[in-house]
Amino acid sequence: MTDAKGRYGGADSRYLPAFGVDASPARLHLALALADVHWEPADRERLRVLDIGCGRGLTVCLLAAANPGWEVIGLDLQPVHVAEAREIAAEAGLDNARFIEADIAELDEAASVRLLPEVDIVICNGVWTWVPDPVRLGIVALLKARLAPGGLLLMGYNALPGFADCIAMQRFLMEAARGVPGGDAEKARAAFAVLRRMRDGGSPHLPRAEVLDPILEAAAVAPAYAAHEWFTPFWRPVFHADLLRDLGPAQIEFGAPSRPSAALHQLQLTAAQREGYAQLPASMPEEILTDTFIERRFRNDIFVRGRRPAAATALGDIRLALGVNPEHAVMTLGTRTGLASLTDAQNAALLDALEKGPQRLRDLAALPACRDLSERDIALMLYETYTAHPLWRDVPTDPAFARRATRCNDTIARRLGAEAFASHAPLGAVVPAVGSAFVMGMTSLAIVAAIRMGVPADADHLTDRLVQRRDDPDAVDAVKRSIENTLSRHLAAWRAIGVV
Ligand SMILES: C[S@@+](CC[C@H](N)C(=O)[O-])C[C@H]1O[C@@H](n2cnc3c(N)ncnc32)[C@H](O)[C@@H]1O
Repeated sequence: MTDAKGRYGGADSRYLPAFGVDASPARLHLALALADVHWEPADRERLRVLDIGCGRGLTVCLLAAANPGWEVIGLDLQPVHVAEAREIAAEAGLDNARFIEADIAELDEAASVRLLPEVDIVICNGVWTWVPDPVRLGIVALLKARLAPGGLLLMGYNALPGFADCIAMQRFLMEAARGVPGGDAEKARAAFAVLRRMRDGGSPHLPRAEVLDPILEAAAVAPAYAAHEWFTPFWRPVFHADLLRDLGPAQIEFGAPSRPSAALHQLQLTAAQREGYAQLPASMPEEILTDTFIERRFRNDIFVRGRRPAAATALGDIRLALGVNPEHAVMTLGTRTGLASLTDAQNAALLDALEKGPQRLRDLAALPACRDLSERDIALMLYETYTAHPLWRDVPTDPAFARRATRCNDTIARRLGAEAFASHAPLGAVVPAVGSAFVMGMTSLAIVAAIRMGVPADADHLTDRLVQRRDDPDAVDAVKRSIENTLSRHLAAWRAIGVV
């Protein structure tokens, strides 16, 4: 066992490159405003961001490309991750991105101060659940030493009680993989075959089918990723309350969930559940109270180092811009009790206004058709359905922004595209107006990258550029249809917000 393996079960293999939409300053701002929490950086163009356990560096590169005035730093234990991330950043011309190879457990306060500036945002996605106590303590020490007062922590973790049904399954998987010869993929194939046999035999210890089946499917598509995800002795989902307690020494407080609709009682609880909820002791911590009836498995929570109330005008001042062509907008939110939607007249009024250009939430709420809706209702519907995106800045007219985005998208598509396509991992296309990126699969990213490189934005030219198997007319046709579909859904909105 190497030292690294002793700190992190997946240290022998590379993690998948993946971008998560929540790592966007504009989305953090909106989620906090929805929870009435203040976050108004003095200079939006000069933030410092640290991604702890940055993996292959995709998030760092996308944020650095979208925000040329920011300093974006990735820190990871695995040299294989850091080496590749540095190469991608260099190829994309990102002189404001840098990567540090370090074991967080070994960074004391003095080392943190030597290596890192004070930062405004820390991202820590998919780390806490997978690491032993010394690493968790290291994360807290780093936050204490380097997260600026008023700064944010975006933490993605497997949460209890939602994930409790996978605790036994994870143990069975880990034991089934032990001793299997070969690399991660072989171990995963063997262990997941055991899991399938347990399911088929009717084991009472496995999660229900709607949870288990996607896990089995993901493992079949990307076995090495599944090994990284499940074969670690340190794997522990946590209660929000326990995470908050552990973050306490860094004086970190809870700000908001990055997906607020997942916990909204009026959306997620049946009438009977609401009645049951009303009778629970108010002395229970709020997030645990909510979890008595709501299933939240993976949580992406925003924490603040010094929580203050937001100004009354904070939410209304936020501007949103369309991310999809209005005729293709799907404005329905999935809930545990069905689908939530607005009226046709409200949808039409909102989309009509947004088609003219970015709109403040205050102005959308003042539309006559929306008089029954609050700024909050409108924000939730537009933001959580990805119909419209909060802006971090005006759509830049300076061609330097476009050049950075073009080079970064092209580098990511070339370097990570084939792997992302095979594993279904989400990549991202740089969108400077949102200060981040839009999540995209490889096909959409290839279309964006090609248009940005000067290929005319029509299905014939793009098919010609992107198709790989010209000898197979069915394959060419399938690519062309997929390109037509993407262009009809997004092209006008993408042009308006500066994706292409
Ligand atoms: C599950 S991956 C998540 C990667 C990335 N944050 C993402 O969301 O795609 C966990 C990452 O944490 C890193 N890591 C684990 N233990 C660490 C430690 N002690 N110090 C620094 N990085 C660590 C791993 O190398 C790995 O890249």
